[in-house]
Amino acid sequence: MPGINIGVLISGGGTNLQALIDASEDGTINGNIKLVISNKKDAYGLERAKKKNIEAIYLDPKDYENSGEYNKALIDEFKSRDVELIVLAGYLKILSKEFIESYSMSIINIHPSLVPSFSGKGYYGENVHRAVLERGVKLSGATVHFVDQGTDTGPIIIQKHVCVDEDESLETLKDKVLKIEHEILVEAVGLYCGRMLEVDKGKVSIRKVQG
Ligand code: GRF
Repeated sequence: MPGINIGVLISGGGTNLQALIDASEDGTINGNIKLVISNKKDAYGLERAKKKNIEAIYLDPKDYENSGEYNKALIDEFKSRDVELIVLAGYLKILSKEFIESYSMSIINIHPSLVPSFSGKGYYGENVHRAVLERGVKLSGATVHFVDQGTDTGPIIIQKHVCVDEDESLETLKDKVLKIEHEILVEAVGLYCGRMLEVDKGKVSIRKVQG
């Protein structure tokens, strides 16, 4: 079965993107990363893509009148390459309503906490782990979910936890969670590409493989 065309949006180092590139290359996911777009010129994730001859472009939001126009450009770039699945891999800008409607239930995001805890406006990157340590919770983890019009509120696909140790630091927690992110993002994208995910009334189920 031909692989699904995937588009990835990044803003930073791109370790989640790298996990997807590796999984696409070794066949773990039946998908082809057709295009990577970053809103940050110096995002190392652009280099990661170029090293693997994956088209990677920087689109400067300042070149567009407003975020609506910027998102229109994103849609055009992805649609012109027949991208079917969008993955937000450390992408820090809000998607427009039009973008989300153009890719309904076909946008996957990775969030570095057990949603709904430590999620929503202002909870991204290290802010999440700082809040986790501040609150003193004993479990954290990562969540992969479909994107809807809210912030980190879409149907949850996979979650995986990590234990927060007493001597946990921001760095050790960030590293622990990032490792989990890579695992469950690849798993979720693999399930999507295998057309194994069903969404019904906001709940995701994994289609049983016929024996
Ligand atoms: C990390 O904080 C990760 O938790 C979140 O985005 C940030 C950068 O990830 N998903 P990446 O290394 O750019 O994929």
